[in-house]
Amino acid sequence: MLQARKMKILLPLLFFLGEAHSRAASRPNFVLLMADDLGIGDPGCYGNKTLRTPNIDALAHAGVKLTQHLAASPLCTPSRAAFMTGRYPIRSGMASQSRVGVFIFSASSGGLPTSETTFAKLLKKQGYSTALIGKWHLGMHCDDQRDFCHHPLSHGFDYFHGLPLTNLRDCKAGAGSVFTSAIRVLVLVPLQLTAVSLVTLAALKCLGLLQVPRLVFLCLLLLAAAVLGILLSFLHYFRPLNCFLMTNHSVTQQPMSYDNLTQRLTADAARFIRRNAETPFLLVLSYLQVHTALFSSKDFAKKSKHHAYGDAVEEMDWSVGQIMSVLEELGLANNTLVYFTSDQGAHVEEVTATGEIHGGSNGIYKGGKGNNWEGGIRVPGLLRWPGVIPAGLEIAEPTSNMDIFPTVVKLAGSPLPDDRIIDGRDLMPLLRGTSQRSDHEFLFHYCNFYLNAVRWAPRNSTSVWKAFFFTPKFSPEGANGCFPTQVCLCYGHFVTRHHPPLLFDLSKDPRERNPVTPTSEPRFREIVATMEEAATRHTQTVRDVPDQFSLGNILWKPWLQMCCPSSSGLSCQCDREKQDRQVSR
Ligand SMILES: *[C@@H]1O[C@H](CO)[C@@H](O)[C@H](O)[C@H]1NC(C)=O
Ligand SMILES: *[C@@H]1O[C@H](CO)[C@@H](O)[C@H](O)[C@H]1NC(C)=O
Ligand SMILES: *[C@@H]1O[C@H](CO)[C@@H](O)[C@H](O)[C@H]1NC(C)=O
Ligand SMILES: *[C@@H]1O[C@H](CO)[C@@H](O)[C@H](O)[C@H]1NC(C)=O
Ligand SMILES: *[C@@H]1O[C@H](CO)[C@@H](O)[C@H](O)[C@H]1NC(C)=O
Repeated sequence: MLQARKMKILLPLLFFLGEAHSRAASRPNFVLLMADDLGIGDPGCYGNKTLRTPNIDALAHAGVKLTQHLAASPLCTPSRAAFMTGRYPIRSGMASQSRVGVFIFSASSGGLPTSETTFAKLLKKQGYSTALIGKWHLGMHCDDQRDFCHHPLSHGFDYFHGLPLTNLRDCKAGAGSVFTSAIRVLVLVPLQLTAVSLVTLAALKCLGLLQVPRLVFLCLLLLAAAVLGILLSFLHYFRPLNCFLMTNHSVTQQPMSYDNLTQRLTADAARFIRRNAETPFLLVLSYLQVHTALFSSKDFAKKSKHHAYGDAVEEMDWSVGQIMSVLEELGLANNTLVYFTSDQGAHVEEVTATGEIHGGSNGIYKGGKGNNWEGGIRVPGLLRWPGVIPAGLEIAEPTSNMDIFPTVVKLAGSPLPDDRIIDGRDLMPLLRGTSQRSDHEFLFHYCNFYLNAVRWAPRNSTSVWKAFFFTPKFSPEGANGCFPTQVCLCYGHFVTRHHPPLLFDLSKDPRERNPVTPTSEPRFREIVATMEEAATRHTQTVRDVPDQFSLGNILWKPWLQMCCPSSSGLSCQCDREKQDRQVSR
């Protein structure tokens, strides 16, 4: 009798314990850390000796370091779209056919379509608490200010705190502008032309050589004034209208302040973890660093060996350490998969007028952000999950930031969507060591909308072939980037086309210096043919979808502009983050 009663109590308890145990093993928490524009040559664990990143390095020591981890695109918006959906950005319409490859206005209508499924959406369905803290850059509204169709809260996150757009030079007073060359072409040149015409006409009139009606002068003057007016208001209002912080759907700081910004976002991420210590959670901490405008708080400013850039990296590394110690303190470390990466390679064109380097290092690799040389797409990739993923393992197989989608979704116990192509592959077999080869025999490298290169890791060899259909024209000639335009463009006369494709064996030539030729490689034609066939097969799976970068979708739409109401009328200024400013450290 007593025995039976004991059993009655014990059985459910045992069942509960077993359940809890298997839940812990099969439904870990996820902390996904994404840096902006950090190069693979920056973290110490990837070989940097002068930049101090002890916390990022600790992830590598306690987990797996991927050495051929590839961003699906060398540019922020498309790379992040691919990361969120596990699909090439072209499949969601997040790949631009023109010069503008990222969203530049908070009030434009392009963005990640709601028909796309993010890993956050699937995890939320599995009972996870989900948060995105930091940079989003995947759109906000479609038709009106209330729809928030592209906002993180419409994509499976139940908490958002951060920047809907991206950190830009224009967001920080005195840090310059990313629009300098565009302004020169679109505004200053027309302005000069108008001024020259005015002077010429006036001179001709004075000399009595030409009858010019007053109306013509008036029109030209008005035109010049209008162009100048638009330029000045653009520069004056760009910052408040595009650089603001939100919490959920509300604007909380406009324009955003850089004071202790990393500390504030880090503290908020830590609070999210604490609030959800008892439930499975997904935290995407998407750093504003190390995109320009560079910033760091007092504790980090002027402390590194690499100027403002190094300070920013070291502050971000500090933040990684803070997050890890919260996990440690709450006893969650063994039950949390931590991932650290960058959305693309370092922006090598970021050099100030005075010659200070504001872009990071891509190590031995050629190129950088905006192009598909290895420097643009080979990014840090670290995964840590003590007890499940081996510590200190290095994996050289090709992997993609799209792989996080199926990996996370499966671990959370959710089925993968079966109504669409998922391009990412589950990383767990590779990470656990149950598989030696990557599931990606082929990977496709897009420059925005355009298929730029194919990567092939044949199953039966150690070669990693990369065939370029075109390469960017670096400028000035001999440079390692496209300096006047700040990023390399992907089409027309901006690129050099290659027939047959320009072929490299990355396993022997990771710097992409010596193209393989039919003379140096007898199987050249066979290899190229196999890769071209794979590209054709892939292209046939890409469907026509609405273009999120159409002109209508990238322009500023006044009716979509978020502007926080303040006592002084419609000034688009407010600061509801003041109370958080004094961050306890
Ligand atoms: C954000 O929205 C979620 C619900 O989606 C809510 O639980 C949370 O309290 C909101 N946070 C703030 C600060 O408004
Ligand atoms: C370390 O990083 C800094 C900053 O990006 C860079 O200047 C330096 O060249 C890097 N060192 C190596 C060995 O890559
Ligand atoms: C976490 O996992 C590691 C490696 O398996 C183990 O050594 C350690 O004791 C575990 N810690 C806890 C708190 O369970
Ligand atoms: C690998 O397999 C392909 C056929 O699938 C064959 O054509 C090729 O010669 C093989 N390569 C090597 C290095 O064995
Ligand atoms: C930043 O945080 C530190 C430490 O909490 C505090 O002393 C300082 O006043 C804050 N700075 C600003 C500008 O709010």
